[in-house]
Amino acid sequence: MPRLSAWFVRAALSYLTLGFTFGALMLANKGIPLHPLLWRLLPAHIEFLLFGWTVQLAFGVAFWILPRWQTQRGDLRPAWAAFILLNGGIWLVVLGGWSNGPAWWLAAGRLLEVAAMAAFAVHAWPRVKPWVEETK
Ligand code: HEM
Repeated sequence: MPRLSAWFVRAALSYLTLGFTFGALMLANKGIPLHPLLWRLLPAHIEFLLFGWTVQLAFGVAFWILPRWQTQRGDLRPAWAAFILLNGGIWLVVLGGWSNGPAWWLAAGRLLEVAAMAAFAVHAWPRVKPWVEETK
C-alpha cells in the first residue's frame, strides 16, 4: 500500500472509531439520560462518519488501486493536498460547532472539504481509463 493510502486509511479508521463512539454515546443517552451535552456530539458524529470515514476511505483505496503508468501514480501533490484539505476542513467544521466559533469557520471548513474533492479529482482524473485493449 502506498504511503498516502496508509495515511488515508488509518485516518479513516480513527474517524470510524470516534464516530461510532459518539453515536453509541448519543444512543445510550436516549435510553439512560447521561448528560444533556452529549447531544452536542451529533454534528461531529455526522462529520466524522460521512467525511472522515466514508470519503476518506474511498480516497485512500482509490489512490491505491486506480490504474498507474508503469509504477507511477502521476502527480501526487493534489492527492496529498486532498488529505490535508479534507482533514483540515473536518476539524474546522467540528471545532467551529463545539466552540460556538464564528460562522465563517463552518463556511471555511466546508470550502476546504470541497477543495479536497476538487484536488483529489485533479489527481485521479487522468488515472480513470479503460484497459488499452478495450479502447479499440
Ligand atoms: C457510517 C455510519 C453512520 C453514519 C454515516 C451516520 C450518520 C448519521 C446522521 C447523518 C445522523 C443525523 C440524522 C438526522 O439528523 O436525521 C445520525 C444520527 C444519529 N446516529 Fe448515526 N451514523 C452512522 C452510524 C451510527 C452508529 C453505529 C450509531 C450508534 C452506535 C449511531 C447513532 C446515531 C444517533 C443516536 C443519532 C441521533 C438520532 C436522533 O436524532 O435521534 N450512528 N447519524
